[in-house]
Formats: sequence, C-alpha cells, structure tokens
Amino acid sequence: MGMVWYLYLSESPLSKPITLEMERGDKIALTGANGIGKTTLLKSIMGLIPPLSGTIELGDYISIGYFEQEKQYENTVTCIDEIWQEFPSFTQYEVRSALAKCGLTTKHIESMVKVLSGGEQAKVRLCKLVNRPSNVLLLDEPTNHLDVDAKEALKTALQAYKGSILLICHEPEFYTHIATKVFDCEQWTTKQL
Ligand SMILES: Nc1ncnc2c1ncn2[C@@H]1O[C@H](COP(=O)(O)OP(=O)(O)OP(=O)(O)O)[C@@H](O)[C@H]1O
Ligand SMILES: [Mg+2]
Repeated sequence: MGMVWYLYLSESPLSKPITLEMERGDKIALTGANGIGKTTLLKSIMGLIPPLSGTIELGDYISIGYFEQEKQYENTVTCIDEIWQEFPSFTQYEVRSALAKCGLTTKHIESMVKVLSGGEQAKVRLCKLVNRPSNVLLLDEPTNHLDVDAKEALKTALQAYKGSILLICHEPEFYTHIATKVFDCEQWTTKQL
C-alpha cells in the first residue's frame, strides 16, 4: 500500500507543497497546533474536500476506517439502530454486545445517540470502526472526550491493530505508545505560529 499526497489545503494553501508517503504497517501520528490543517489533510485523503492542487493516490486493496474529529447527531436514532443500520446482518444480541464491549451500559445502548455525552458518542463511533474490517485507520483526535479507562482500552487496541494508522493527536502520552513515526505538521505550515 502506498499513498502520496501533494496538497495545497484550503483556498490559500495551508501548507507548503509536501509529499507524504505512508507504507503498509506504518502507524503515523500527526501533531501540531490548532488550525494548521490536520483535519483538512485527513478529509482530503478521504475525498471529502477536494485538494486545491495535487493528487492523493491510494494503494490497491485499501479499506479505510475514518473517525471524524467532530460529529453532530441530530436525528432520533438509538445506539442500537445506529449500529444496526451499519451492520444489518447482526442479531440484536450482537448489536448490544458490540456496544457493551465499547464501554456502553444498557441504559446508553437504548438511548438516542444525540442525548449521549461526548465520550459516550465517541464510543458508539468507535464501535462502528472496530466492527468493520479495515486495513487503514484515519483517526482524527479519537481520544477527545474519552476517560482514562477508555483511552487505555483504545491505546491497547491500536497497538494490536494489524493495519496502518494515521492518527491526529495532541497527547504525546497517548500517541508515543502507538506511533512508529511522528510528523509534526508545523514543519510544513504556511501559518505564522
Ligand atoms: N470549511 C471551511 N471553510 C473555511 N475555512 C476552513 C474550513 N474548514 C477549516 N477551515 C480553516 O482551515 C484551517 C485548518 O483547519 P483544520 O480543521 O484542518 O485544523 P486542525 O489542524 O485540524 O486544527 P485542530 O487541532 O484545532 O483540530 C483553520 O484555519 C480553519 O479555520
Ligand atoms: Mg482538527
């Protein structure tokens, strides 16, 4: 697997021209100050934002799992239905146990996603990620909102993950235990820091 990025991000480039490559098995942490374009980079890789210039090349046989930094839930879907929509072949028991494994209680599981706390919503989103086969994870600040135990469980899961990871994270005490490489995005920013 390989990815090459040549990106000018946003209307005026957020970064100097850069070429980044990610190889199979890499676990890369992206760090750097707020607003320098880390989320924009991940969204560009996902094709959610068209790059102003340049290309993103994804290798063959890539199956990406993406965790967004911010996600607003507005509809009235319960956690059970949220997971069931994604995995229709699951039995109700399998849906409930998948959510429980991600640290959600029966009360949470039966609640609407939109009424849950930030950390509980993150657990629902992580539940989707871990149950869908993937070989690349793009994770945008997945530890935001998580408590100590949930962070530890996530760290262990990411260490054991067999695929590649691109992880945006502001917490060295989290990413240094996972990352094989750390890219400080401040090295290619056009912003005055
Ligand atoms: N839709 C948009 N329209 C205009 N500007 C945007 C848009 N999205 C992001 N930006 C701007 O682009 C810059 C980069 O934003 P981005 O979300 O990629 O930063 P980030 O590095 O992920 O920051 P953080 O660490 O706070 O998550 C910011 O200055 C932001 O205000
Ligand atoms: Mg961001």
